[in-house]
Amino acid sequence: MMSRTVYVNGEYLPEEDAKISVFDRGFLFADAVYEVASILGGKLIDNKAHLIRLQRSLDELEMPAPCTLEEIEAIQLEMVSLNNIEEGLLYLQVTRGAADRDFAYPKNPVPSLVMFTQEKKIAQSAAADNGISVITQPDLRWDRRDIKTTQLLYPSMAKHEAKKQGADDAWLVEDDFITEGTSNNAYIVTQDGTIVTRQLSTEILHGITRKAVLNLCAERQIKIEERKFTVEEVKNAKEAFFTSASAFVMPVVSIDGATIGDGKPGELTKRLRELYLEEAVK
Ligand code: PDD
Repeated sequence: MMSRTVYVNGEYLPEEDAKISVFDRGFLFADAVYEVASILGGKLIDNKAHLIRLQRSLDELEMPAPCTLEEIEAIQLEMVSLNNIEEGLLYLQVTRGAADRDFAYPKNPVPSLVMFTQEKKIAQSAAADNGISVITQPDLRWDRRDIKTTQLLYPSMAKHEAKKQGADDAWLVEDDFITEGTSNNAYIVTQDGTIVTRQLSTEILHGITRKAVLNLCAERQIKIEERKFTVEEVKNAKEAFFTSASAFVMPVVSIDGATIGDGKPGELTKRLRELYLEEAVK
């Protein structure tokens, strides 16, 4: 693979030369927020919404922005073009920058901005065709999951555990209810065809794909209930799926070894995936 061009604080560099300080608070404290936007047909999907969420994450942490959202968008577009990427992901991260190690925020932080692209087949994949398996894991993350920070060790542990057990991913559980997946929002389709997904709060990330998919449902009079659901409800559901910018609408066909529906991607799930793809490339 050719070396990628990575953006670091004003410079477009070959990935080997892209470096950040060991004193960066992103490295020392995970004092950093990020966004992942998908690229399809060389276009960023739903990027405005990602930038609005980035601003919200920054505001919640009183972290200064490295530049305006318009400037960030211009860099994003330049990155897609320089890396000549048709399908994949654009990752961007803002940190509070480098400072002597101290738990208190530095007085005059100089934020860091980094970006890189990653090739990935999102529109077509075996996982999307066949569905994926999940296990449940306790949700041991902090209580501000609405802020998209880089504190991702626990989701990483949960995914590792899923792989160890021969599954693809984990859905996280708090007080018997599913919160969300390690890096995605979780849904079931009940036997009467209603889509159920957890309501927005500080307990989950406010997914950009979630919002787009719920809009598609509302436009088509597909019934939606935004409420908590249990693991038992997942086992008795007609269908299950998750959404994220890196996978769009992804069928989930088993949980903790129990088959969901007939063990194949559900009809409504498949339809939503197609609708999302159609809208995305418009
Ligand atoms: N993750 N919930 C969590 C915990 C997430 O990390 C993500 C996204 C989502 C879905 O949000 P969106 O639809 O805006 O991508 C929900 C990204 C893709 C990641 O960390 O790679």
